[in-house]
Parts: sequence; C-alpha cells; structure tokens
Amino acid sequence: MFHYFRQKPVFIFALLALCILLLIVFIFRQSIFNTATTPGTATNGTLGAAAARTGRIFGAAVASSHLADDQQYANTLDTQFSGVTPENEMKWETTEPERGSFNFAPADTIVSHAQNHHMKIRGHTLVWYSQLAPWVKDVATGSELLQVMKNHITTEMNHFKGKIWYWDVVNEAFNDDGSRRSSDNVFQQKIGDSYIAEAFKTARLADPNAKLCYNDYNTDGVNEKSTAIYNMVKDFKARGVPIDCVGFQSHMIVDQVPPDYQANLQRFAALGIDVQVTELDIRMSTPASDANLQAQADNYQQVVKACLAVSRCTDITVWGVTDKYSWIPQYFPGQGTALLFDDNYNKKAACNVVIQTLTQED
Ligand code: XIL
Repeated sequence: MFHYFRQKPVFIFALLALCILLLIVFIFRQSIFNTATTPGTATNGTLGAAAARTGRIFGAAVASSHLADDQQYANTLDTQFSGVTPENEMKWETTEPERGSFNFAPADTIVSHAQNHHMKIRGHTLVWYSQLAPWVKDVATGSELLQVMKNHITTEMNHFKGKIWYWDVVNEAFNDDGSRRSSDNVFQQKIGDSYIAEAFKTARLADPNAKLCYNDYNTDGVNEKSTAIYNMVKDFKARGVPIDCVGFQSHMIVDQVPPDYQANLQRFAALGIDVQVTELDIRMSTPASDANLQAQADNYQQVVKACLAVSRCTDITVWGVTDKYSWIPQYFPGQGTALLFDDNYNKKAACNVVIQTLTQED
C-alpha cells in the first residue's frame, strides 16, 4: 500500500510524458518518418505532394536505364513524383520477345524502385500494334492470335499482380477519323473488332484489383476519334465488358490545347469511368523561345485545371522526368523542351505553375 502511494505521482508523470511524446510524434509524423500519408515520398512543394492534396497522383514515364545510370534522374523522380509508368519496359517486344518466353527483368527494376518510394504504378501496355515482338504478326490464324493475346495478357498481369494501379490494356486502336486502326494492326486484321473487348475480359480475370484503361492520342478534344472511343466505352458498359478508365495521352503542341479538353474528359467521366492524363508533354520548336516557354506554362496549367475540375480524373502523368531524355526530339525532329524539368533538372516555368495550380485547389 505504502509503495503504491509513493509511486503514484511518478506513474502519473510517466504517463503524462508518454502522452506528450506520442502527441509530438503524431504532429511531426510526416517529417519524422519521412513518409507522406498519401502515396509517394514527394516532399512539400513538389508535384507529387501538391497533387496528393487534391487526392491525385502526379506521375512520370520512367526508363530503367536512366534510373540505374543517372543519380540526378532518380533523385528528381523520387522527390517530385508520386507515380511511374515504365516508358518501354512493359511493352510486348520486351516482355515476350519469343513466343512463350517472357522477360520481366527491366520492368521489375522500375516496379521495385516505385514500391520502395511508395509510388503508384501504371502498367503500359498489354496490346498494341507498335513495339510488338516481330513473331506476333506471323501467327497464322485469328483464333490462334486470340489465344496468343490472351496468354500474353494473363502471363504479364499475373507477374505484376497486386502491384499495378491502372493497366493500359489496349493502346492506340483507332484512326483519327474514328475508324479502327487496321493497316498496321495485326490484332484488328486477324481477330477483328472483338479483340478489344476480349482483351479487357481477359485482363479483368487476370488481376481483378487492377483498374483497366483504354489509352490513345489525338483524343484530347471532342473529335471523331475521341467520339469513337466514347461510343466504344458506352457499348462496353451496356454489354458488361469490363472497363474502368480511358487514358488521354495528351502529346500536345504549344498553344494548341483543345479548348474543350475539360468538356471531353467530363463526358467520359459521365459514363462512369475514371479518366487519366497518361503521357502529357507539350512540345515546341527548338531552341525554345521565352514566349513559347511561357505559353507552355499556361498550357500545362490549362491541362491541370481541366483534370482538377473533373472529380474522376485521378492521375496526371508526364511522358518523362526531364527534357534531357524526352522521346520528342527523336520522333518530331526540330521539336522538344516538352516536359517540366530542363536538361539540367531545373524546374521550368511550367513546373512552378503546375505546383501552384495544384496547391491552390482545395
Ligand atoms: C514511346 C517511348 O517514349 C519511346 O522511347 C519509344 O521509342 C517509342 O514509344 N504513345 C505511347 C508510348 O503509348 O508508349 C510511346 O512511347 C509514345 C506514344
């Protein structure tokens, strides 16, 4: 009894101290543990942190080679972004170069890097006419190709099961006039229109927890191509074909963001799916003028505002971390500086505007 009373104040003091300590840890948990409560280790004032305030992810396309060789590249990715898309590593020519023999090693390095940094991962892409292994076009019949396609989807999705946030199941299946892309697309030629629905049904079975997207370019405004995709999604919804999202690549030219960008995102969202900006870059003639860099900042702001205005717009991903490695100069000679960080990893005007715009949203 005597001992109890003598120790009681000590006990109460210890309890109080513990409570205060717990309170301090709780208040400063973000800086103590250096992990955000939302995905991504992106710190305050960064693209990822600013997007997280709005419940969105801000991602970048990533190349495994640069991740391994360029420390500044990895640092910029890790501090600024909350999502990744492997730029090439999940494409068919890499993942199934020979029939039935799979190689996921390059993509695995990106996936584990992303997981270590609490980033969301977009899988890109399972069925696409381009960067396809050469053997696929030699598969003799449509029914055999359908089996090959299903096996590819199932095997790749199984490998990454549980790790992928959204998958681009089918990429670039339409022409600009809204017809199906056929002349260079072996799936359309040999299987026919049904290959897209078959791909989505197969994907749902393989990883029921991953969201499934259709992804395309030149679809940013209301036009024949985006309307054809809109009609396909409507039809899928009516027939019970699983689809969760449409990705808008948004490879754009400075001063040419369609004025109906937001309205276009909105009409797709109204179908009951998510929309994502999946491959954003805004290119210009090089060397860039100051006026074009300023216009680019305005254009990026327009895209961000459009996504923020559509509650089902869940992600903005830019197609590269830095201008240094952007695909644009190679594919559009004479053009470039399309991204948010310059060749030296400095923030461009567009980057600051994007962070401000995301931060102002509440
Ligand atoms: C591009 C990559 O950025 C390049 O490195 C590669 O040589 C070609 O493909 N649409 C897409 C992306 O869906 O996969 C493309 O990526 C860009 C256009």
